Amino acid sequence: MCAALVSAPLALAQDATEAALEKYRRMLKDDPWSNPGLLDADRGEELWKTKLTACDLGKGPGKVEGAFAELPRFFADADRVMDAETRILWCLEKTGFNVAAFLRSPHPAGGQPVKEVGAIATYVASKSSGMKFAAPTAHPKEKEAVALGDALFNRRAGPFDFSCTTCHASDGARIRLQGLPLLIEPAAARKVIGEWPGYRVSNAHVMTMQHRLLDCYWQMRQDRLVFGSDASVALTSYLVANAKGGEISAPSIKR
Ligand code: HEC
Repeated sequence: MCAALVSAPLALAQDATEAALEKYRRMLKDDPWSNPGLLDADRGEELWKTKLTACDLGKGPGKVEGAFAELPRFFADADRVMDAETRILWCLEKTGFNVAAFLRSPHPAGGQPVKEVGAIATYVASKSSGMKFAAPTAHPKEKEAVALGDALFNRRAGPFDFSCTTCHASDGARIRLQGLPLLIEPAAARKVIGEWPGYRVSNAHVMTMQHRLLDCYWQMRQDRLVFGSDASVALTSYLVANAKGGEISAPSIKR
C-alpha cells in the first residue's frame, strides 16, 4: 500500500524525464551534419591515409570499409584479440609512434578533442556505419575474450563492491538523469553499442569505447583500466557479442 503511494508519482516523474530526454535526442539527431564528431572522423581519415596505409584491420592492408563491424577479432601477427583502438595503436607503434607517452594519457579532458588514436577509430567506425556487428567468434582466443568479458562484467570488486551489472542489469535504472542501458540484454545492447565512438555533448568531445569503459571503472572506483589491456578488449568483445546483429551508427551523438 505504502509502496504504491510512493512509487506512482515517482514512475510518472521518470516517464516525463524519459520523454524529455527522448525529445532532446531526436533534436540532436535531426540534423546529422551538425555532428561535430564528423570533423574528428575527417581528421582520423587524414591520419590513416598518411600513416597507416599498411595497417591490417582484419580485411587486408589499408582496408577500412566494413572492418569495424568485424572487430574485436584475433590477429595472428599479434597473437591476441584486439578491438579497433588497440589494433590502431599496435599499427601506429610500427610507425615509431610513442606508445608509452600515449598510454600515460590516452583520452581527452573535457572540451579537448579526441586524441589521434580515437580520431582514427572514429574514422574506422564511420566506415562501417549502417552495417551490422558481426565479430568473429570461431577462434578459441575470440571465445576466451567473450567469456572473460562476461566474467568481468558480472564480477563484483573494488571499494564499492560494484560490478557492471550493478548499474547495467536492471531495467529503467538511472544515475543523475542518465538512463542506464540494460547491456546484458541483446535488444538493449544492439541499440546502443553501435553508437560508439560518439560525440558526447556533455563532455564536448568524441568518446570512444575504451574511454567509456575507463569512465565506468572510474565510477566503480576501481583501478584505471589500461588502454588496450586484455580486460578492456574482453569487455568490448562481450558487449559486441551481446550486440551481434545491431547496427553501427558511429559517430553518433550522445547526451
Ligand atoms: C556506478 C554505475 C555504473 C557502473 C558500475 C558501470 N557503469 Fe557503465 N555507465 C554508467 C553511466 C552513468 C553511463 C552513461 C549513461 C549516459 O550517459 O546516458 C554508462 C554508460 C555505459 C555504456 C554506454 C551505454 C550507452 O548508452 O551507449 C557502456 C557500454 C557501459 N557503460 C559499460 C559499462 C561496463 C562494461 C561496466 C563495467 C566495467 C560499467 N559500464 C559499469 C554507469 C555505470
